[in-house]
Amino acid sequence: MSSPSPAKVPQHVAIIMDGNGRWARQRGLPRLEGHRRGVETVRTVVDAAREIGIRYLTLYAFSVENWRRPADEVSGLMGLLDFFLKRELDNLIRNRVRLLTIGRTGDLPANVRRELDRVIAATRDFTEWTLVLALNYGSRTEVADAARDYAQAVREGRERPEDASWEKFSRYLYSAAIPEPDLLIRTSGELRMSNFMLMQCAYSELVFTPVLWPDFGKADLQAAVDDYGRRERRYGQTTEQIKTGPA
Ligand code: FPP
Repeated sequence: MSSPSPAKVPQHVAIIMDGNGRWARQRGLPRLEGHRRGVETVRTVVDAAREIGIRYLTLYAFSVENWRRPADEVSGLMGLLDFFLKRELDNLIRNRVRLLTIGRTGDLPANVRRELDRVIAATRDFTEWTLVLALNYGSRTEVADAARDYAQAVREGRERPEDASWEKFSRYLYSAAIPEPDLLIRTSGELRMSNFMLMQCAYSELVFTPVLWPDFGKADLQAAVDDYGRRERRYGQTTEQIKTGPA
């Protein structure tokens, strides 16, 4: 397998981790077993991303819509999150990976919030590698929250409506401190965005793979990065403009 030149490694990869339930069903196992295996994949992919040179990795771990799942699945997912944060702290520190979150994390159970605060505080000074967990995240909720905060800033005289621009508004998104994803991957063969980083992925390259999340590994991540390396990103310009640089 040929690797792309380092310049073609995406700085930020975002992943919609999908297919845990189907992985479990195919084996006659409870859905939670699929999520459990999904957590092992998270560890593998966090390590693989760093080895490949991906500086920001964002994982869609729990959406605002996921609360509608059966109560035992929701509590199982929260338990796995708590387990993951406790187990991974040492690994993140050893590998100098900073943890950030996007989403309404204030509505998560207290024990999960406590673990998140602990891991975020312990890794806050690392700058080379960043893992972003999207938790209780939804793009529309994010835009609504940003609009609320922007309106408040206008009311307090910190912003002026006539200056409104994407550049200014995007500073109110949860992801303000994170570059936009260069590459978005969705596993399990579904061809949807599912309310994930809709604004930030305006110019992202998309890769959809049929591999179910528990089966996803370093080779699959590398294949998506290689695919990305072969794409030409034009941001609305022509190929010729891209080759000669900005006018
Ligand atoms: C989608 O599979 C996956 C989720 C809704 C949750 C993803 C969560 C994990 C991988 C584990 C927890 C995460 C961390 C970071 C510790 P699905 O259940 O929708 O699968 P299906 O579409 O096949 O039913």
